[in-house]
Amino acid sequence: MTSEEIRKKFLEFFKEKGHAIVASSSLIPDDPSVLLTTAGMQQFKKYYTGELDALADFGSQKTASIQKSFRTSDIEEVGDSTHLTFFEMLGNFSFGPVGFDDPKDFGKKGYLKKSAIFWAYEFVTEILGISLERITVSVFKGDNETPFDEESYNIWHKDLGIPTEKIVLGNRADNFWGPTGNEGPCGPSTEIYVDEVEIWNLVFNEFYKEKSGEFKKVEKAGVDTGMGFERLTAILNGVDDVFETDIFAELVSEIRESIPSVEHEGAVKILADHLRASAFLIADGVEPSNKEAGYVLRRLLRRIMAYQIKYDIHADLFIEAVGIIKNKFGGIYPELNDVQKILGVMEGESQKFQEAIGRGIKEIEKLEKIGGKEAFYLYETFGLPFELIKELAPKSAIENLSKEDFAAEFNRELEKHQNVSRAGAEKKFGGHGLVLDTGELKAGSVEEMKKVIKFHTATHLLQWALREVLGNNVKQAGSDINPERLRFDFTFSRKMTSEEIKKTEDLINEKIKQNLPVSFREMPKSEAEKIGALSFFKAKYPENVKVYFIGEENSAISKEFCGGPHVENTSEIGNFKIIKEEAVSSGVRRIRAQIL
Ligand code: ALA
Repeated sequence: MTSEEIRKKFLEFFKEKGHAIVASSSLIPDDPSVLLTTAGMQQFKKYYTGELDALADFGSQKTASIQKSFRTSDIEEVGDSTHLTFFEMLGNFSFGPVGFDDPKDFGKKGYLKKSAIFWAYEFVTEILGISLERITVSVFKGDNETPFDEESYNIWHKDLGIPTEKIVLGNRADNFWGPTGNEGPCGPSTEIYVDEVEIWNLVFNEFYKEKSGEFKKVEKAGVDTGMGFERLTAILNGVDDVFETDIFAELVSEIRESIPSVEHEGAVKILADHLRASAFLIADGVEPSNKEAGYVLRRLLRRIMAYQIKYDIHADLFIEAVGIIKNKFGGIYPELNDVQKILGVMEGESQKFQEAIGRGIKEIEKLEKIGGKEAFYLYETFGLPFELIKELAPKSAIENLSKEDFAAEFNRELEKHQNVSRAGAEKKFGGHGLVLDTGELKAGSVEEMKKVIKFHTATHLLQWALREVLGNNVKQAGSDINPERLRFDFTFSRKMTSEEIKKTEDLINEKIKQNLPVSFREMPKSEAEKIGALSFFKAKYPENVKVYFIGEENSAISKEFCGGPHVENTSEIGNFKIIKEEAVSSGVRRIRAQIL
């Protein structure tokens, strides 16, 4: 049976039983307590609680859907034969009323355990044709918070004749579901296994978990089921790996061709999963960023890019993959047909991080030992995500640290840093006014002022060095300095090579080490122009200007129209490091740099 047939049969089956077929909701949920949609029931939360009325909205108290879902908790697990980040979930749902539960009734009234279990059983055995010998089930055995689900047990055993040895009693971790987020509908679940693989989870929302952690019995119990589409397809395709199903066939074979050696099988699966997941996230409007869903997407994309670099995969893979994904899913999820948008976001992110990642990988290879501190340095300086560092670091460099210690040490560094920048941000907006404000430079404290002044002089050195390396067509097109970094925009027509970046950095650091004096002199604008001082074309200058010199005036390497302030000697600056070089607009490039 193909995946397309499974979709069709599932929806037809539940439609015949009186369910309204509801389209998948977006991967970005309405529910603010969760990052991404992780289950089919999420879009129905308010029908369980009674805030909304399903009969009014869908014409039935029972619904069925195929829901786009994403589980961040599985990111690390992807690479084997069952785990996925993005997956689809087949589900049927019921929202009351109390006491009515007849598997022979195909009307609009809701149902409970008996119908849910009867129909699931009928669908698995009769519609999908899975034989009884392959099936086992599980039921919640109860604990001190909520009781044994005896009713489900009896339905399986007494009504359907499932022998007791095929009914496993499970604990809370395995057989109690929900809520999504901090509070909400939840309850015991009964699961169906085929060949010992869990395929279907039937949850009976008999409880509402309060924020306080208390389980309250609800008046209108509901049904919420979820069946992993890819796992089910694997079983019905007769394969034991979700990546070997017809769902993934074309994508996986495209990726395999891009990575000829089979020794990278784990990477093939990660790429297949992450490319598909990214396409779906972008299609739903997620954009790479440093927080929440955007961060999840960024993590997936960066991992793809790391493999791309590691295995030297041609960038056409993105284009091919997005085309394949559109062909396979665009009919069901029209948002995937916007290939331009999906590729645009992928390429934008790729450009931003390619260089940083490339340089980060080189840096990793240089480090003999990589602990949490070093990992944080790589993260902060090159934008390399922790997951990638773990993946790319030579085993010999990290072997002395346990996985947990490594992660804990990294997180400690990260927190320290976040506290520092938070403190900085509070200070800046803290109502005490600015210690320094020249328009170009702003600082909220003496500490910050020292930093921005160093960056300011470094900006002059940067413009000088760029002209040395790239030629005199380079001119400042803007700059922005804060206590964390400097940003410098300049005219230049193409991306700088890594050699050019390195050379620029080296020249600057050489001048910093030479302890060059920095001074200024006021002079008429005409004289300043005559001695070749650089001005910033966007600025309007008065008749008398200040010119800053780096080095003695008659042999200065840098002369610029500038209001200051600057350090007195280049040695005050510290170690200069370019973090990023990227395009701003046609003919204008941007460098971000830090002082370490
Ligand atoms: N909400 C349940 C699950 O996702 C059905 O497993």
